[in-house]
Amino acid sequence: MGFFDRLFTKKNEKIKEFKVVPNHIAIIPDGNGRWAKKRGLPRNMGHREGSMNIKKIVIFCSKIKVKYLTFYAFSTENWKRPQSEVDALMKLLMEFLRNAEKELEGSNVKIKVIGDLTALPEELQKEIARVEKFTSSNDGLHLIIALNYGSRLEMLHAVKEISKKVKENKLSINDIDEKQFESCLYTAGIPDPDLLIRTSGEQRISNYLLWQCAYSELWFTDALWPDVNESHISEAIRDYGKRSRRYGGLG
Ligand code: IPE
Ligand code: IPE
Ligand code: MG
Repeated sequence: MGFFDRLFTKKNEKIKEFKVVPNHIAIIPDGNGRWAKKRGLPRNMGHREGSMNIKKIVIFCSKIKVKYLTFYAFSTENWKRPQSEVDALMKLLMEFLRNAEKELEGSNVKIKVIGDLTALPEELQKEIARVEKFTSSNDGLHLIIALNYGSRLEMLHAVKEISKKVKENKLSINDIDEKQFESCLYTAGIPDPDLLIRTSGEQRISNYLLWQCAYSELWFTDALWPDVNESHISEAIRDYGKRSRRYGGLG
């Protein structure tokens, strides 16, 4: 048995350990900058390492049969960072998408990008369209990348869409309900996250999936994103298995 087979067998044994595997995991992969600073490296090196780590975690989640995995890659507030960092992040996202099908080969991952894509560099918009189309018939893990994403912007966008329908007499005000609203979010058709993971010790939502995470279980770790590995995710999933989700009822 080769090294990779052994690794895989070991991981398979681990899968049996999980009482339940969340259908949808949303991740805020935070701490790239601090990871680099700790090593005396420029922040962009932390982003490079963090980007590579995303693929490792995608492969793991795909193996343990998570169906949806959403990563926060760039928020609507991240434009406030120095231009050189924004440029480096855009370049890394471009590389990530370009190499995605090669590096995730055989994993059958379907990629979708959510957020206000109109503000992104044109070549990145084209690459997003290409990779979404290329992976559209895959039926494995749904990898959702939140890029220039902010929940407040997403909800305003939904309100505008609904208002337009009302104005054009295509929708009556009485018919505006949760289902209607959800159908106007970027995440239309994607089930709500069951588990939200944030790394780096920060315990806040930072404008991420505010509507969708209304009843998600939250899990935090002090580990900085580039240091996060399969065992952190396994720990989060085991912890998730012990939670009692009551949705306001008695469980
Ligand atoms: C998360 O790492 C990645 C992005 C926001 C793109 P940070 O860059 O926020 O890292 P810290 O929080 O400064 O350590
Ligand atoms: C959240 O991290 C956004 C991403 C991981 C892309 P930030 O580092 O931008 O969040 P704050 O500023 O600490 O809330
Ligand atoms: Mg941060």
